[in-house]
Amino acid sequence: MSVSKVVASPSRSGVFAKDTDSRVELFTESISFDERLYAHDIQGSIAHAQMLEKVGILTTEERTAIESTLLEIKTEIEQGEFETSISLEDIHMHIEKLLIDKLGDTGRKLHTGRSRNDQVSTDFRLWIRDALDRVDQLLLQLQKAFVGRCDQDIDTVLPAYTHLQRAQPVLAPHYWLAYCEKLQRDRERIADCRKRLNVSSLGVAAVAGTSIPIDREDTASRLGFDGVAANSLDVSSDRDFVLESAFALTVIATHLSSWAEEWILWKTVEFDFIDLPHDFCTGSSIMPQKINPDILELIRGKTGRVIGSLQTLLVLVKGLPLAYNRDLQEDKPALFDAFDTVEACLDIAAPLVEGATIKADSINARLEKGFLDATSMMEYLILQGIPQRTAHHMVGALVGLATENNSTLAELPLQEFQKLSPDLDEKIYGVLGVQNAIAAFKSYGSTAPDQVKAQISNWKTRLGL
Ligand code: ARG
Repeated sequence: MSVSKVVASPSRSGVFAKDTDSRVELFTESISFDERLYAHDIQGSIAHAQMLEKVGILTTEERTAIESTLLEIKTEIEQGEFETSISLEDIHMHIEKLLIDKLGDTGRKLHTGRSRNDQVSTDFRLWIRDALDRVDQLLLQLQKAFVGRCDQDIDTVLPAYTHLQRAQPVLAPHYWLAYCEKLQRDRERIADCRKRLNVSSLGVAAVAGTSIPIDREDTASRLGFDGVAANSLDVSSDRDFVLESAFALTVIATHLSSWAEEWILWKTVEFDFIDLPHDFCTGSSIMPQKINPDILELIRGKTGRVIGSLQTLLVLVKGLPLAYNRDLQEDKPALFDAFDTVEACLDIAAPLVEGATIKADSINARLEKGFLDATSMMEYLILQGIPQRTAHHMVGALVGLATENNSTLAELPLQEFQKLSPDLDEKIYGVLGVQNAIAAFKSYGSTAPDQVKAQISNWKTRLGL
């Protein structure tokens, strides 16, 4: 069968009486942002061609020509010898057009038994799968940075806060490991998201499947997918994997923003807990004394973009009827931006964590302020047989007295304790003061030095340090 007219884009069939209006081309193109799918598009097309050969639709000769030409196109793209044109819409059409230009009718056979709808979904899954793996490695790198400084900071006690008010003392590594736990859950979310994403869309074609005797298991296994999506209507409309990835990235960004906010505070003269490496700080054009934590501020600030991407994607899919709708093309800029932002933040966070120095003298100079030992004292009273509510009230009264005297609890005379409970003796001083309070902790997951040391060695083993 011969075709009378071959239009510029392979997607434009003989049904069209007119060429596309240039304003439509400009409005509908996605090549400006989906070019970055090129490697995964070629990977998917090669697997598809190999399967078409296996089921007898392509000859070995044809498959070989398609495969080697696709690899040639890949090299050309990587060497910058690739011209894009909005008349070819997207990366999928560009690659196919190049293939057809080079191979003629053999190239025209590649799109058998597939549609751009399953092709886009496949390419995006492959791209996201790699991106999730990169994020996992970056999370690991940041965990290692936190664990890596635990030994050097083991003797530093910091105030823990609730409501940003001084609460109880903790060892500095207890802070570092708190972030490790959060990052670990982030990694688990990534792994979980990867599981549901790693299912093949390829071969559902446009929306209903195909009458061509394709083998979907074959392409799925060639592409490293764990399974084959079972319903063509579902796959054609499905962007759950995009939403889940965006959500996982959003949680990472919010974790980073909390850490950034905390260290921005710690870097102030008011807190004075931490110094940041000067090569990771910025100055002011007018105030000569300024050493600003702009990186941390940008990590905190960029969280907004990531949350915005998730919002964009959720609104994008809301109310879409089955199955593919062109709206879905808008999923890429949002998710690419979320990945780019989170990867950049994670990458710069690790050296900052490694290079920061704890200002122990400054911390220690004010560590006895804020009654960090009050809860330990209450627990001591409970262990002497005083009911918790009574002990809570008693210690509160002593904190009030110490505040009036501008003293610490440890500086109060024994008579003041005995006024509230005559049986108390000198041993009460054994839990007062920040160091004693730290030593008194016992429970699993607490900041008890033994617990923290065990957790550090646990993390070292888990992270292969
Ligand atoms: N660039 C488009 C996208 O990313 C390609 C799919 C177009 N499919 C179609 N049936 N018009 O979604």
